[in-house]
Amino acid sequence: MTLDRFGRNINYLRISLTDKCNLRCVYCMPEDITFRPRQELLQDDEILRLVRIFAELGFVKFRLTGGEPTVRANFVDLVRQMSNTPGVETMAMTTNGLLLDKLAEPLAEAGLQRVNISIDTLDAQKFKKLTRWGEVDEVLDGIRMAEKAGLGVKLNAVVVRGYNDGEDVVDLARLTLYQPWQVRFIEMMPFGDVADFQQAGIVTEEDLRGTISAALGDLSLVNNGQLDGEARLYKLAGAQGTLGFISSVTQPFCASCTRARLTADGRLRLCLLREQEVNLMKPLRDGANDEALKEIIVDAIWWKPWGHKLDDDVVPLNRVMSEIGG
Ligand code: 5AD
Ligand code: SF4
Repeated sequence: MTLDRFGRNINYLRISLTDKCNLRCVYCMPEDITFRPRQELLQDDEILRLVRIFAELGFVKFRLTGGEPTVRANFVDLVRQMSNTPGVETMAMTTNGLLLDKLAEPLAEAGLQRVNISIDTLDAQKFKKLTRWGEVDEVLDGIRMAEKAGLGVKLNAVVVRGYNDGEDVVDLARLTLYQPWQVRFIEMMPFGDVADFQQAGIVTEEDLRGTISAALGDLSLVNNGQLDGEARLYKLAGAQGTLGFISSVTQPFCASCTRARLTADGRLRLCLLREQEVNLMKPLRDGANDEALKEIIVDAIWWKPWGHKLDDDVVPLNRVMSEIGG
């Protein structure tokens, strides 16, 4: 068990496998982004060693993110080896879904259990504008293939004022009436070069719930408001699925946070919204043994921060989202 100084048990590692992506969502990265050279990223054997070490420290849940994790070379094999690591109980992935038509089956077979698929609108035109070139139909195919492969599926939407904050939200919410899905709305968070755009375009949970209930009726709280991971769940009357709200900006969930993040370039990031990071790549490549790496990790986790400082205008500037992993 790895505790921080506030007594939180940190047992959930989100691993960014690459900073690259086959889309360029406006809220995630600038269009002209340059990606890191390959040698600056963790190699397969380095990732596998860290997964084993984290599992030995008591981490049980692992989520693969990016950028877009599915664009990494040798991805299915890497998932298989991670899933087979003793101690790993849950292996999940956050993806834009574009490559799931081919990968869903092999990934499920390799041990992947769950996917969160990003879909910010069902409208083809607006989807293209938000992602800069994506085809929403390919994501819908990906969702179907993931379900067919037996993966647990949740849908994620980031809502941006002026892009997808009207009918789009209602249409996504309406999906839960007929499908047993969890559709989650994520408050846009500010990072790096894109921070001004993000802060100007944020749509809060309160606004979102207002828009949804005006169109589709009252929302009732599920589980007395107890969080499901990071999401607060609601249900529309008679719905098969649920609506989740991940409101990191207006209603942070620091008290129940169990996660740490490994960036694609091998830094341990303790909080998404704070710049504090610890370099694991350097000791790894300098030949540190397992015990030494464990000591660095345990110490880093002890100092995991509490709370963002966005209200004081302290925005994390050192990276954009695609380098940290959502
Ligand atoms: N704020 C909130 N969520 C974001 N994502 C990407 N950028 C942001 C941001 N600025 C989400 C994506 C995806 C996951 C990888 O992170 O929509 O669901
Ligand atoms: Fe790619 Fe996801 Fe970022 Fe969009 S939000 S550019 S799909 S990593």
